[in-house]
Amino acid sequence: MTLIVMASGSFASEGQPKATKPDLAAGESLYNNGDATRGISACVSCHGANGNSGSGTWPKLSAQNATYIYTQLTHFKSGERANGVMMGMSMLLSDADMKNIAAYLEKQTHKGGTARNKDSIELGKSIYRGGIAAKNVPACAACHGPAGAGIPVQYPRIGGQWAEYTNTQLMNFRVGDRKNIQMNTIAAKLNDKEMQAVADYIAGIN
Ligand code: HEC
Ligand code: HEC
Repeated sequence: MTLIVMASGSFASEGQPKATKPDLAAGESLYNNGDATRGISACVSCHGANGNSGSGTWPKLSAQNATYIYTQLTHFKSGERANGVMMGMSMLLSDADMKNIAAYLEKQTHKGGTARNKDSIELGKSIYRGGIAAKNVPACAACHGPAGAGIPVQYPRIGGQWAEYTNTQLMNFRVGDRKNIQMNTIAAKLNDKEMQAVADYIAGIN
């Protein structure tokens, strides 16, 4: 039986076809076990139980906005966001798979992190909360929220993320390897020291 539900969830944005309700159980199963018959690896092996990864090589995905996760998966698949590993993963996923996994991850409890660098914490905090007026850098909090929880659906959660991953993404935005007009403009104005400081600060806010 196919149940068509009125579009009401996170995917009902303009220009997209009305979505059927995502299947959380299917998303959970695919995330944790993959699907051997289709050659899909388990996401859990890199992204960790419930989307709380064990190191900064792999981003935490827990409690992330489902629309954001879905969009990133489609960008990996099309190559718009260049990453060899995730391109391989997302190639095998159907549109429904992506929506199911995204819906499952959004419901998982986020495990926070900690800032590690005492010397840069004040700089990181001031950039996050107030931006850098002299360089026209806006406060990160304006879009990502005071505690980094994001503002669905436009702005992703970044609080509590591994500093290593955040720093890598800022560098990718700066050189344009990852494309987003807002983040490309902002990252282009940050130097390495400022990126490291704000990435470390972000790891400790939740
Ligand atoms: C072999 C390790 C590995 C596996 C398995 C893996 N990923 Fe990833 N994933 C990564 C890496 C590395 C990145 C960071 C890519 C980058 O730097 O752009 C990433 C990034 C992502 C992102 C972007 C997160 C963000 O905050 O923008 C999403 C979403 C994602 N993966 C979902 C999945 C899903 C769903 C699966 C299972 C179908 C999966 N991944 C399996 C390694 C993996
Ligand atoms: C004007 C709004 C806006 C401001 C201000 C902003 N961001 Fe973003 N940020 C975004 C959007 C939109 C995205 C999603 C980009 C995409 O879809 O690839 C994003 C994505 C990110 C990501 C990628 C998250 C992930 O999981 O891969 C990081 C890291 C990030 N921002 C850090 C920052 C930092 C640090 C600042 C402050 C210096 C900042 N942002 C200020 C809008 C903003």
